[in-house]
Amino acid sequence: MSPRKIIIDCDPGTDDAIALFLALASPELDVRKVTAVGGNVGLEHTLRNARALVSLTGRDVPVVGGADRPMLGSFIPEPRVHGQNGVGGVMLPDGKPAAPGIAADAIRDMLRAAAPGEITLVGVGPATNLGLALATEPALLDRIAEIVLMTGAWAEGNVTPDAEFNAWNDPEALAVVLACGRPVTLATLETTAQALATPSWMAGLSGGGACLQAAKAIMASVPPSRRLGARGTPQHDACAIMWLVAPHLFTTRPVHAAMDLGPGPGRGRTVIDRWERVAGPRNAQVLETVDAAGFFALLAERLATLP
Ligand code: RIB
Ligand code: CA
Repeated sequence: MSPRKIIIDCDPGTDDAIALFLALASPELDVRKVTAVGGNVGLEHTLRNARALVSLTGRDVPVVGGADRPMLGSFIPEPRVHGQNGVGGVMLPDGKPAAPGIAADAIRDMLRAAAPGEITLVGVGPATNLGLALATEPALLDRIAEIVLMTGAWAEGNVTPDAEFNAWNDPEALAVVLACGRPVTLATLETTAQALATPSWMAGLSGGGACLQAAKAIMASVPPSRRLGARGTPQHDACAIMWLVAPHLFTTRPVHAAMDLGPGPGRGRTVIDRWERVAGPRNAQVLETVDAAGFFALLAERLATLP
């Protein structure tokens, strides 16, 4: 099969960094563009990190900056997990300059030039850039093969009891994406809780070059998740990429997914119905289980191929 053409929208972000490395190391994927959004840290850091990470791989992929705030309100960064610079304080050599323009336009430009079903969108940060692109030019929706998001949870959140960080940072944008009518695959917190990078796995990473060294340092900067019993560090964003690289490692379930857009404590909650209790279309699928051994074996293998 020819490589799948994808656009990755991200907010690097320690786990975004691993996701970018995995995508750029995988022959199954043709990363056509990387777009940055504010989220884990401000856009000035996420864009710099995206440029630096892509350049470190030696891949010539344009990086475009996008939204520095959600559709409504302002981003609440998460330096406790990602550090002030967004990659755990790891100093990366500066990357190539950003491509001109802004992310939502760049996404639409690529869709406009594409054939039906030619492009897959991957979102691993707040969905602002994707939501703006899809809401502005719905005629381009048929160019999208699939939208894969790391976002949401059907149970407990990680930034509030109800909400996962990406969904919480821009619930309106995520609502636009969930309602767009194209196939949507969700790597939720329940998915990523099964993809825990353990200290022993990290210690076993060998070979590789500057990218692997950077990946090890970035992952080591993140404390094991207290929410997950300190058993390891969830590789949230890499789950979205790994679904496209090795779908056999996952099982899926069709769901109805909607957003709590209210002002109350539930704001940003992804209301995911896995049991057909809610009338309405099964407008998404969740990645319900992960073969963790296969996931981390392949992740180690791909990271070692990078320069
Ligand atoms: O909740 C986890 C998600 O929020 C990941 O994408 C992480 O990078 C942060 O953006
Ligand atoms: Ca992210």
